This record gives sequence, structure tokens and C-alpha cells, in this order.
Amino acid sequence: MIGFPLFPEVASTIASGVDLLYFFLVAITVLFSVLIFALIFYFAVKYRRSPDRKAQQSEGGLGLEITWTAVPFVITLVIFTWGSSLYIANSRVPDRALAINVVGRQWMWKIQHPNGRSEINELHVPVRQPVKLTMASQDVIHSFYIPAFRLKQDVLPGRYVTMWFEPTRPGEYHLFCAEYCGTYHSGMIGRVVVMEPEDFQKWLGGVTEESPVQTGEKLFTNFNCVNCHATGALQRCPQLGGLYGTEVRLEDNSTVKFDEAYIRESIINPNAKIVKGYPAVMPTYRGQVSEEQILDLIAYIRSLTPVKEQTGSATKSTEGR
Ligand code: CUA
Repeated sequence: MIGFPLFPEVASTIASGVDLLYFFLVAITVLFSVLIFALIFYFAVKYRRSPDRKAQQSEGGLGLEITWTAVPFVITLVIFTWGSSLYIANSRVPDRALAINVVGRQWMWKIQHPNGRSEINELHVPVRQPVKLTMASQDVIHSFYIPAFRLKQDVLPGRYVTMWFEPTRPGEYHLFCAEYCGTYHSGMIGRVVVMEPEDFQKWLGGVTEESPVQTGEKLFTNFNCVNCHATGALQRCPQLGGLYGTEVRLEDNSTVKFDEAYIRESIINPNAKIVKGYPAVMPTYRGQVSEEQILDLIAYIRSLTPVKEQTGSATKSTEGR
């Protein structure tokens, strides 16, 4: 298994067991396919039509019939017993498992560690330590898939599902959403980082906490704000660079200061104050975005500088990061 290029890395305690069962299924399939095709060709040649041979009625044989019933029965029982014992062994979560929460939503994975540290589209875990994930979706069905661990679990709205694993090797592994969940399903990817326990503790300690601007930038991408607020063909909403601190003109020709309060209101209740010249197309993010995240988004929007081709009034440069 190891080193076979068609397979992902083997990085959890159950991965080898799953691979072994999979290879057994492949071997059985190959064996019977070859056997059946060989017999078809052999009989086609041996019993081909010839003028001096008459068709004979065969009454069958009891021994043969019992054999071809019993052999597949035993094989399927082996597959059933093997598969279910793997499944049962993997359903029992060890008591010492580290509990981590996962929330899936269009189109990101949000992961929260017990000490409050959270991350987006990344999952940091210590090696040789069972980890239990409690997962829920905020909208549609997603599927949490880590090929190197041989684990895949549908994540459902309105219900918690759990999954556990024990990583065996430090490294970085792919994390996918394996259930089509909308336009940006293919972008709902990330990585699992398996670390030595000491490194993990250090990471969890939060000395490397990212700045609000960086968090805000991720949120801006993950909430797909960038789709409408970017420049170019897709721009349907005001480009936000350089707006902070300026007065913006609204539909009824009044003006409003582009500040924290206005940004927050526009995220929670986008139609309250529409900027002149733009359609009211923005959906509300009420309930999807926490106050903490709004603060990060504001920090990011403040850090944006104007894009070229803006009118003179909006070129006032803003404070840096
Ligand atoms: Cu989430 Cu596909």
C-alpha cells in the first residue's frame, strides 16, 4: 500500500485496515472477472456451432449448484464481517479523545478548539492522539473528507454528527468537501496539519494569532464579499478601497459617513442605506457572522487602499495595516 502512487498517504490508525479491505474487494472483483471472461471465451470456442453436433438438454448437477451458491455466500459473509468490524471499531470514540467542533457552511469549514482558538479551512491536531470532531452545517449538506485518514462524513444542517481519528504521522494532508453544496463547492478545501504534541501546544497557545486584518481578509473571501465588491466584470457593489472615513452618497441624495457603524449596519441590514447608483442585491449576513467577525471585517476594509480608476474624491489614502 505504502508508496503506491494511486493512493493517498496512510496517516491514521484505521487507514491500513480500510486499505486492506479495499484491496481484498479489488482482488475478488479481478479474480471473478478474469474467471468469467476466460470461461466465456473457452466455451464459445469449444461449443461453437458445427454441422455434426446436435444440441443436448442438460439436467444440471446438484453438486455444482450448491458450490456456486455456497462460495459467493461465504465470500459476502467475509466481506460483511470484515467491513462491519472495521465500522464498529471506528464508531467507538476513545475516552481520551480531544474534542474539536467543526461547522460547515457555504463555502468554508470553521474549526473551533476547546480553548476557543478557531481556524478556517485548516485543522491542526497533535499526532498519536485521538481526536473527536463534532460537526454541524449552517446551511446545506457538506461532507468532511480527509483521504489520508480514509475518513468521510456527511455534515448535516440541524444535527450534530461525530467522527474520530488518530493521526499517526506528522505532516499536512488534504481536506475536502465531498458533497456538492453549491457554486463554490470545489473551493471548499483546506488542510489538516498534524503536529508533534509540543508543537501543537505551542500553536494552541496562540502566540501566532493572526491579526484582525488577516482574519478579516479571509472572512471577506470566505463570505464571498469579494465576488461583488471586487473590480472588474463581476462588480455589482461599491468597491471598498479608500472609502473608510469618507462621506458616501445614498439613493435619496443624503450622505452617510463610511465608518464602523455604517459597515456593521450594511452587513446585518444591507438595504437600510443603499449607496447611490447600485442595486440592492446584497443579502443579509445576520446570524451568519459573529460580532467578532464583523470587527475583523471592518479592520480589513479599513486597510484597503483605493484601486485605480476611482474618482478623485475617493483617493484619500487610508492608514496601513
Ligand atoms: Cu461544502 Cu461541497
